Amino acid sequence: MLSETDNILLTRTGPATPMGALFRRFWQPVALSAELPDSDGPPLRVTVLGEDLRLFRATDGGVGLVSPRCPHRGADLFFGRNENGGIRCVYHGWKFATDGRCLAVPTIEPGLQRARVEDNIRLLAYPTIERGGMIWAYLGPAEHRQPLPEFEFLTLPDSHWFVSKKLQQCNWAQAAEGGLDTAHFSFLHMSVADAADVTDRVMDRISTGSDTVRWMRDDGAPRFTILEHPAGLVLGAARRGDPGENYWRISQFLLPNHGLTPNAFPGDTYHGQTWVPIGDESCWTYCYSWNPHRPLTESERARYRAGFSVHAEVDAHYMPLRRRENDYLIDRARQKTESYTGIDGVSEQDACIQDSQGLIADRTLEHLGPTDLGVVRFRRTMLGAARALEAGTEPAAAAHPAAYRVRGGGAVAPAAMPLTEVMIRRFGDAFGHADQIRS
Ligand code: FES
Ligand SMILES: [Fe+2]
Repeated sequence: MLSETDNILLTRTGPATPMGALFRRFWQPVALSAELPDSDGPPLRVTVLGEDLRLFRATDGGVGLVSPRCPHRGADLFFGRNENGGIRCVYHGWKFATDGRCLAVPTIEPGLQRARVEDNIRLLAYPTIERGGMIWAYLGPAEHRQPLPEFEFLTLPDSHWFVSKKLQQCNWAQAAEGGLDTAHFSFLHMSVADAADVTDRVMDRISTGSDTVRWMRDDGAPRFTILEHPAGLVLGAARRGDPGENYWRISQFLLPNHGLTPNAFPGDTYHGQTWVPIGDESCWTYCYSWNPHRPLTESERARYRAGFSVHAEVDAHYMPLRRRENDYLIDRARQKTESYTGIDGVSEQDACIQDSQGLIADRTLEHLGPTDLGVVRFRRTMLGAARALEAGTEPAAAAHPAAYRVRGGGAVAPAAMPLTEVMIRRFGDAFGHADQIRS
């Protein structure tokens, strides 16, 4: 459990909060590229870390993330005209570039005064970078800005990855905890019947082999080992496998809000998620799948769009079809005969149970046990980093973009083998760094 003070510290990411300050030392996805398809197209309203902002793609394709308020008299630039290199407020025609520079002030006669206004008035604008099908932004102080983290999929050709996003109707931290808590697979995503056709139907969305299903079903108390590296944590969970062996599911937590999933065996497609707070009671989950060895096929992309693996089935506004308001379309008959949840989709099962903890989970009432070790270490890492930053120590992870180039995945190993050795055997590196990996 956490004290109420620590629960507040962990979960609040608005502008004046310590956790908000920590998040603002890291680049965050703020939209999919697909949401701003056209230069000079309509601006978007976005809310990130409690800040209401506008996003627009200018004539040259560059993207501006700016204050919604025109500095003249506060009109909303959502209604602005995106034209010829900037966004023009349609109240009196002031115009701004993607970096917030004032390009035109037609309410003032040309001359010294207008020049002074054009030179001195700026629209609040945050830097953006577009990569991996996402628009990333940095909302922190310019002097502490570091390069974009080098996630492996960001270094691959476009053909090798797929990204999606979905609304998650709870605080970012419990969504992140759900992603790192790999013990839950033995129930939340599991079929309840041994019949092969039922198991196949339930597990098909995950593309998990029958041995791993059996191992996860038979051992609901995985033993966790945590390793620290410059960008975050390796979270290894060992279940009993076949005699003399452990089945390891190894995930990654990368500061401040990224998780890589533990399922992929060598050659498989890898998956990850990033939980970006909107306010304190909802977040956007960005989901990515990548295969380092080959392009993803059209049928794989179609499955991801239909809500397989980490991806949800969403409408045109990225709202999951199965969500809080409709009880995730739970089917009580199938809950009896097929799966523990009676809900379709791994992503939706995760969302249901994470949302069900409350808009902001009350961690003062918990009773944690050994399988919660990963969650405990995640909290300790984040609370420690937020407190350290308050005391003047910058987060080391932000300054180590190459350390984000890691993988999570599955491995079968002799029962006595410790996690560091399993990592080296599975990934060629104790922390799963992708530069060392050939399979
Ligand atoms: S309020 Fe925007 S130009 Fe006047
Ligand atoms: Fe899950």
